[in-house]
Amino acid sequence: MEKEMKKIAVLTSGGDASGMNAAVRAVCRSAISKGLEVFGVNRGYEGLIQGDLFKMDLRSVSEILHRGGTVLYSARCPEFKTKEGIDRGIRTCKQFGLDGIVVIGGDGSFRGARDLSLAGIPCVGIPATIDNDISCSDYTIGVDTALNTIIDSVDKIRDTSHSHDRCSLVEVMGRRCGYLALNAGIATGATAIIVPEKKFDFQKDIVERMQYTRGIGKKHFIILVAEGVEYEGGTVQMAKDIEDATGVVTRTTVLGYVQRGGSPSAKDRIIATRMGVYAVHLLAQGIGNRVVVVNGEDIVDYDIKEALEMKKEFDDDLYQISNEISI
Ligand code: ADP
Ligand code: F6P
Repeated sequence: MEKEMKKIAVLTSGGDASGMNAAVRAVCRSAISKGLEVFGVNRGYEGLIQGDLFKMDLRSVSEILHRGGTVLYSARCPEFKTKEGIDRGIRTCKQFGLDGIVVIGGDGSFRGARDLSLAGIPCVGIPATIDNDISCSDYTIGVDTALNTIIDSVDKIRDTSHSHDRCSLVEVMGRRCGYLALNAGIATGATAIIVPEKKFDFQKDIVERMQYTRGIGKKHFIILVAEGVEYEGGTVQMAKDIEDATGVVTRTTVLGYVQRGGSPSAKDRIIATRMGVYAVHLLAQGIGNRVVVVNGEDIVDYDIKEALEMKKEFDDDLYQISNEISI
């Protein structure tokens, strides 16, 4: 028989992402509406290990829907990857009488949620990371806001690049995933998009493309590079090599953490809210060891273990479109 849920907790873990607060708010309000007690865990698994929890009420999540970051704070907690760490987490769950936990984070955080579920604490994961690198879900909370920030920044860089007839190389985040670079590259009209998923040829994909497009009237260039691309000396060296090979003055901008913050977009707020409510709906029925995902237009759920084994497909069609039109 499924266990009756009375008390649940919510935590945010891994790299923060805009929209995490909207998910926390939805979990808290939806749980209370269903008659559950809900606790917030500070600093992800680190707070769980240390018993840093507080009881939430409806007003605990007021005025956070529009705020970036996470009011529950986040952390990377290496200890949780060990048996001792998990045992300490379980001890806290028992101490607070928790019947389930909603874990908002990336696939690392889901591994922790899987381990807790297997140890008898039902967990439901909600995907949140700007990288959009979680195989089981078409979308992760934070991506739309990050993309819009990148686009806004590259538009500004384009103004100065245009004024000086320069090449601007922009490095974006994404860990080992090229999603942000590819999609931002399409949206900003980049001359070249370099991603870890595609082997790239410096001469053909950058130098010859710039020379060809310059020959047909292009005066300035935007090149988007995902942080996961391996290049000796990194993007600063890549810019020097481009300048040497083409004679076009080339400057590098590493966008960095600006991509992680800011008020969440409408899309991030809405998806986060839907996922938060869905996660509580599962836990309230005693269902754990699941991840809530976006599948097309729908929100559905998968077994965590199966979700972690899925492979993400790179969007080759979008990549081809970019090659076809950025001339
Ligand atoms: P993300 O969740 O964004 O992928 P991380 O990979 O840093 O970020 O994972 C966040 C946290 O999840 C880690 O600091 C750790 O506490 C926990 N975690 C990651 N991998 C595992 C694992 N294999 N087993 C248990 N917990 C894990
Ligand atoms: O996973 C989100 C992300 O911002 C990645 O794009 C980046 O590689 C990483 O986190 C940076 O991690 P940290 O916050 O630990 O510096």
